[in-house]
Amino acid sequence: MDTALWIQYLTYGLLLLLIVLGIRFLWLSITQRIHHPEQWIFRSQQRKIPDDLLALERRSDDRIRLYNFWFQTERIIKEGITGDFAELGVYKGDSAWLIHRLAPDRTLHLFDTFAGFYQPDLSMETGEASTYTWRDFADTDAGAVKARFGNTPNVLIHEGWFPDTAEEAEDCTFALVHMDADLYQPVKAGLAFFYPRLAPGGVIIVHDYTHKWEGLMRAVDEFVASIPECLVHVPDRFGSVMILKNKPLPG
Ligand SMILES: C[S@@+](CC[C@H](N)C(=O)[O-])C[C@H]1O[C@@H](n2cnc3c(N)ncnc32)[C@H](O)[C@@H]1O
Repeated sequence: MDTALWIQYLTYGLLLLLIVLGIRFLWLSITQRIHHPEQWIFRSQQRKIPDDLLALERRSDDRIRLYNFWFQTERIIKEGITGDFAELGVYKGDSAWLIHRLAPDRTLHLFDTFAGFYQPDLSMETGEASTYTWRDFADTDAGAVKARFGNTPNVLIHEGWFPDTAEEAEDCTFALVHMDADLYQPVKAGLAFFYPRLAPGGVIIVHDYTHKWEGLMRAVDEFVASIPECLVHVPDRFGSVMILKNKPLPG
């Protein structure tokens, strides 16, 4: 077969591949489209959602997670639940930035080593987390994260190994806590620290509660067995769960 014929076959092959990929893309964007929640549309029509949050929504690779943060923040504000916000597991501050933009007036505590995982925490891991090393998430630093928030005085950085840094916030009450630390030890320590300091009606959101993160799941399950509340699953991309602290009966 001569070269011209080969090139012709190759071109047809590539064209066919492009057509198949195009059809697949169209099919997925129709059948797996994520709709905006009615309440989000209503509030954005009222111009109650700032443009930068709408931009974050458009760029988000997990919109359900974003909407969940928004619903929880709206609920906390509406119900008048007082307390600071916190995140354990910040890295470069992506989810922290979202939380801050949703409630810019709340004090936000950011806990991280800002140098990646702590080796003794890693050594007790099984499952996907056992493939992590101290190098993962180490390419960040507290100063850069602080600068990302414009050195806003109500964003407080707690740099170092958790729970050592917990004492810096031991007198605080929290309304919303986001835990994204992936491993058994920090999640166990985080739940033990934040839950007693969570205001009634406040929420702890734990990211990555899936079979892949065995240690994290175990830490959550062990903790939930010791409290009256149940876990609420969020059907977002990587599986978040929430603990909503019971409120006392009115009166
Ligand atoms: C998955 S990343 C967080 C991602 C982040 N929420 C974001 O939006 O990109 C996990 C983070 O948890 C932090 N971390 C894990 N164990 C920790 C511990 N014991 N103390 C403090 N930080 C810890 C790591 O340093 C890492 O930055």
